[in-house]
Amino acid sequence: MMVAMRDRRLYESISSTYRLTRRQDKRVASVIHDALGDAERIVNIGAGTGNYEPPDRTVMAVEPSAAMIADRPSGSNPVVQATAEDLPFPAGSFDAAMATLTLHHWRDRWRGLAEMKRVAARQVIFMFDPDEVYRFWAIEYWPAAVSLPSEQNLPRPADLADVLDVIDITTVAVPFDCTDGFGAAFWGRPEAYLRDEVQQGMSWLAQLSEEDLAEGTARLEADLQSGEWDRRHGELRNLDRLDVGYRLVVAER
Ligand SMILES: C[S@@+](CC[C@H](N)C(=O)[O-])C[C@H]1O[C@@H](n2cnc3c(N)ncnc32)[C@H](O)[C@@H]1O
Repeated sequence: MMVAMRDRRLYESISSTYRLTRRQDKRVASVIHDALGDAERIVNIGAGTGNYEPPDRTVMAVEPSAAMIADRPSGSNPVVQATAEDLPFPAGSFDAAMATLTLHHWRDRWRGLAEMKRVAARQVIFMFDPDEVYRFWAIEYWPAAVSLPSEQNLPRPADLADVLDVIDITTVAVPFDCTDGFGAAFWGRPEAYLRDEVQQGMSWLAQLSEEDLAEGTARLEADLQSGEWDRRHGELRNLDRLDVGYRLVVAER
């Protein structure tokens, strides 16, 4: 309960800057939309401001944060204020349920996944694999992030098979110029991690104490100025895309 309340408050505050740095990336969107198959009626769980909602289907959004709901662009799909754990829909209401970059925030991830399966025949989850993402270089600068409550007991993509009938798990390589500033999106553009709005748009940095955030920011800034970051990771600046641990899980009952 504590985690759910904290996360809800988190997105009440993150919402003020969310749309500055969190805009759907078209290349990531096309992978998600392909995975929805020919589903016509879609429910988007933890919908936030509506990133990744397909434009050519009937979409119902589900989002607990009033501030995120208020920040949805005008003309957005209809939205219900609710959590993944208690979806206010009868069984089989949708062809597909999607959840993008939200699973780690759910109070009871297993119950939320079971709810997705109850209300839709197909489930599409865009998530990160904690084993992979925790190898990301930025964790060296803000190591306290791995101890945050939202980062505990995180399911790995393969674990979703405990609840869902998983048919596919795909690696979603993140483009160098990804337009959605999620956790590891700036893997080849380290200077971005110094920017306030970028930090505030990422829950793993936004939840840190001011001290931890400032300490890691100062260390990264110093390493960029001295050339130390480029000595250790500079080859990343030359890559087009990178597997930083993001996965698309598709399941069907
Ligand atoms: C990083 S945002 C992702 C938003 C959107 N899906 C996207 O891809 O931009 C995470 C969202 O999960 C929502 N969330 C937090 N706890 C939730 C829960 N228990 N059930 C459903 N959504 C939740 C937050 O309010 C927030 O809007």
